[in-house]
Amino acid sequence: MVTLLSGEKIPLEMHKVRMVQKVNLLPIEERLHCIQEAGFNTFLLKSGGVFLDMLTDSGVNAMSENQYAAMMQADDSYAGSETFYRLEAVLQDIFGMKYFLPAHQGRACENIISQALVRPGTTALMNFHFTTTKAHITLNGGIVEEIVGDEGLKIKSDAPFKGDIDINKLNEAIARLGKDKIAFMRIEAGTNLLGGQPVSMNNMREVSCICRNKGIPIVYDASLLADNLYFIKIRDEKYKNTDIKEITREIASFMDIIYFSARKLGSARGGGMLLSDEKLYLKMRELVPLFEGFLTYGGMSVREMEAMAVGMQETLDMNVISQTPVFVEALCNELIVKGVPVVTPPGGLGCHVDATQFCSHIPQSQYRAGALAAATFIAGGVRGMERGTMSEQRNENGSERFAAMELMRLAVPKRVFTLSQIKYTAERIAWLYNNRHLIGGLEFMEEPKVLRFFFGRLKPVGNWTDLLVKQFRKDFGDSL
Ligand code: F0G
Repeated sequence: MVTLLSGEKIPLEMHKVRMVQKVNLLPIEERLHCIQEAGFNTFLLKSGGVFLDMLTDSGVNAMSENQYAAMMQADDSYAGSETFYRLEAVLQDIFGMKYFLPAHQGRACENIISQALVRPGTTALMNFHFTTTKAHITLNGGIVEEIVGDEGLKIKSDAPFKGDIDINKLNEAIARLGKDKIAFMRIEAGTNLLGGQPVSMNNMREVSCICRNKGIPIVYDASLLADNLYFIKIRDEKYKNTDIKEITREIASFMDIIYFSARKLGSARGGGMLLSDEKLYLKMRELVPLFEGFLTYGGMSVREMEAMAVGMQETLDMNVISQTPVFVEALCNELIVKGVPVVTPPGGLGCHVDATQFCSHIPQSQYRAGALAAATFIAGGVRGMERGTMSEQRNENGSERFAAMELMRLAVPKRVFTLSQIKYTAERIAWLYNNRHLIGGLEFMEEPKVLRFFFGRLKPVGNWTDLLVKQFRKDFGDSL
């Protein structure tokens, strides 16, 4: 962030744009048609009809020239690829852990970790679940228990590390379940479903100490590590002058397994796991050729592995890792000024709009966050993502499991959007907020059993989408 003479603070791009992709802003009537075709599910939109794609930062971060250059010297050997050894060396150096297992993306790591550690009836404790994590744990017969601090579930807060685990809840869970019934303790960096909220170093240290004392394996989901590193540096006075690599090494020293989606961390596509314990490594290693591919590529293209090695090193540069958080903050601030309720303090990953306040008139059973995401696409061609009840799995008896928070996430992939695009997004959402009474609910037409938010098709309850288009035309004339 830099401060202008007027006092306004703006995020500054610490890079220059040298390659671009054309995007289309379709007229609102066509946007309505696109979302109808997509069953009012933003996952099912074709990207050609999307103006600003804020669905996710996964696999869509802008890569650096050095990443592209590295892709040109990849070694395509099935076994023993030099590319693998280059990547392994980078990861060993950054995390200070001995073993690296490749996997094709983050959820593939979750599959392997869950198969290795989860037994039917065991519980995985965690600050908060992520959709794919929970699906893999439950698929293996495990139970997920969330022990994030109460602050993490508040929309508005001043707490700098809302992803922190509640130590009392941790101790209570260990006493209640007993060590043998706990599959592992999982800490998620930059806690995704809480709004990209970071975990503090103190908290990780304390949790690790308790778990190691009891012999409970401690697993770190580092997919959103880059944002978390930034926040430790900015929000924890003690680490202000600490080198990012040193911070990373200290975090790693608390963990038994580190895994990540390299679609996020390192701005490439792929994933991997790091460990220090040989026995555990050997157990997990068996699963890699079975589900991923040979041990020296694990389902990844060697080109992506080269890009990942460079991207991981770039993660140690504050100018690189600051880009998403400062743009998220700018988007949140633009919305706050206009009265739109968002999760605070701004986290990493994206801006999270509170659909519970925004659409308080829509019953939770009509997926208010999903409705808001559909309405946002209609209003501005901006594609966000539902992070609420639709993203939950139903209870065993078929009843809805209502999400703790109903959010619409507007992801800010690294180095992709400009400030005018951020301002446009905030302006259209503010218009929507002023006309929020027009937004109605959604109901399922087709509802898949697992990860229903990906493919589920819905329809609006009533004719609210037509009314929204009509109001738009009234207010904006023939503007796009
Ligand atoms: N863990 C976290 C914290 C994630 O955010 C993701 C993916 C995964 C694991 C799974 O990784 O996609 O490579 O299999 N998050 C994406 C998102 C999908 O849009 O937030 P993956």
